[in-house]
Amino acid sequence: MSHAEASHQFTPVAHAADLTDKGRMVVEVEDRLLVLVRVGDDFFALDDVCTHDDGPLSDGTVDDYAIACPRHGAKFDVRTGAALTMPATRPTQAHDVEVRDGQVYVRIRSTPKTAEAPHLPGQKPAFVSTSDPAAAATGELAPAQGELAPPPVEPERSVSEDSVREALKQVIDPELFVNIVDLGLIYNVSIDEQTDGKKHVAIDMTMTSPACPAGPQLIQNSKDVLGRIDGVSAVDVKLVMIPPWTPDRMTEAARDQLGIF
Ligand code: FES
Repeated sequence: MSHAEASHQFTPVAHAADLTDKGRMVVEVEDRLLVLVRVGDDFFALDDVCTHDDGPLSDGTVDDYAIACPRHGAKFDVRTGAALTMPATRPTQAHDVEVRDGQVYVRIRSTPKTAEAPHLPGQKPAFVSTSDPAAAATGELAPAQGELAPPPVEPERSVSEDSVREALKQVIDPELFVNIVDLGLIYNVSIDEQTDGKKHVAIDMTMTSPACPAGPQLIQNSKDVLGRIDGVSAVDVKLVMIPPWTPDRMTEAARDQLGIF
């Protein structure tokens, strides 16, 4: 136990019977709002705040050992606080919990729980460490938060899968400030030549989460940049969620920008 943790005491917060399996409730310890979660006979406590944009985790649902933020769907491991899925990239703070004689006690932690706990099947805490994404973004790739900067006009070029992917790098995810190609959101590119020599471009694109609020903007901006390529007469953008996006689809460049090691 670190010195910082030793300075905090276990505080009774609830009776174990107050929560059923996968139940959660808000508790207050040392003026801090926490979400207390029960999974089976185990209890966990996290700061009741999503590190993406301050969503209340206590309003989310619990599945296995993950709690989902109700706002944009980011999931956190209740055992460690680790961010499991986008758009969250940083862990929320997990605290120590004990159950004695049917009483649940919580002790505030100020250091990460780097736990013991294995990752969820098929998931991994990809974002246990990160720098500020906004600070990491270069000037070229950093529109104002919450907005998509209009893509710059590109010079004309011939139509190929490489030129399509290159053009799509002008489309920036407004939550993460990384282009959609380096994020691994482009699953497929196909180019059909028409009888008039013009090209129809079709792309399969996914989102970092099904509830991604930037989806319509990303699709429209993709159509805009591809429609400006000389020789392209039509663009089709299909949104696909299978297979689901996972952080390991990101390029090294994207990881560098997000400060993920
Ligand atoms: S505020 Fe939680 S996912 Fe956006």
